Amino acid sequence: MAPSSPGGATPRTPRWLSGAGPMAKGATVSDPPQSAEDLQASSTPLLELEGIGVRLGGRQVLSDVSFEVRQGEFTGIIGPNGAGKTTLLRVILGLIEPSGGQVLIDGEPLHNKNKASIGYVPQKLVIDPDMPLRARDVVSLGLDGHKLGFGFPSRQRRELVERALADVGATSYADARVGELSGGEQQRVLVAHALISQPKLLLLDEPLANLDLRSEQEIVAVLGRLTREHGISVLLSAHDMNPLLGVMDRIVYVANGRAASGATDEVVTSAGLTELYGHHVDVVRVHGRVLVVASESSSF
Ligand SMILES: Nc1ncnc2c1ncn2[C@@H]1O[C@H](COP(=O)(O)OP(=O)(O)OP(=O)(O)O)[C@@H](O)[C@H]1O
Ligand SMILES: [Mg+2]
Repeated sequence: MAPSSPGGATPRTPRWLSGAGPMAKGATVSDPPQSAEDLQASSTPLLELEGIGVRLGGRQVLSDVSFEVRQGEFTGIIGPNGAGKTTLLRVILGLIEPSGGQVLIDGEPLHNKNKASIGYVPQKLVIDPDMPLRARDVVSLGLDGHKLGFGFPSRQRRELVERALADVGATSYADARVGELSGGEQQRVLVAHALISQPKLLLLDEPLANLDLRSEQEIVAVLGRLTREHGISVLLSAHDMNPLLGVMDRIVYVANGRAASGATDEVVTSAGLTELYGHHVDVVRVHGRVLVVASESSSF
């Protein structure tokens, strides 16, 4: 099982489990006022990438990538195969050292303590159907290898697991062997595994790959709810932006080693993507879907 949250933190009830989360999107004036500390926090982006460049195997994979993510925002990292989406997520996790630029969390360069506020669901995770682990065991493992795991009495640990399972809608198969679950069910369990360590920022690498339309919509709805109701920032990579159009606050479109970020309608234009790809592309909007079509008629 891949670690969901590197580093450590002091044991406390997760913000998103306490029911007293930060102000959600769409909050009204009748909501309690934010404290000065909250206002200060909301004026600093949770995540900033400044001029990130990455060289791998002697090749420049990414150049001058800059964008920011604020608390409770849903950001899609979109781009074709090999564009550098996974590489970008690994830079944010501190697993790849950039050749230039910097990553800031809450205005500070990455260090072990602020890395603990990042949860991660990796792209490739092959689960052996014979692995004798129940879904609830996998979620519970999210507390191990994390300082949150220490000092939790087993009753409290059980409660945290139940809440995490409930939050992703996986309670009904909590006792099933994880290897026997469907792709969509496994994906929910993995999100719960990453969430239990109370990340402020949740990175998911292609969580929609191999899911059918219904599972895809369900996972996106779960993640959208985490941003709105619990103020968690979600950064999700995908090659198709369409399943995310209803929840995405910001798109980071990666192509040709570079990235453009902003509101989807501003970034995903024929002129903008032609500039990014370095050759002509058309952006076609039809029946509420966005298609990016290369001049040689291959679509991304
Ligand atoms: N360790 C490495 N050494 C050399 N090149 C690498 C390494 N890791 C990735 N690359 C290259 O960097 C580029 C970006 O890879 P990355 O995995 O980030 O793409 P991606 O956008 O996640 O693609 P996919 O949609 O297929 O997951 C690719 O050309 C890949 O071959
Ligand atoms: Mg990838």
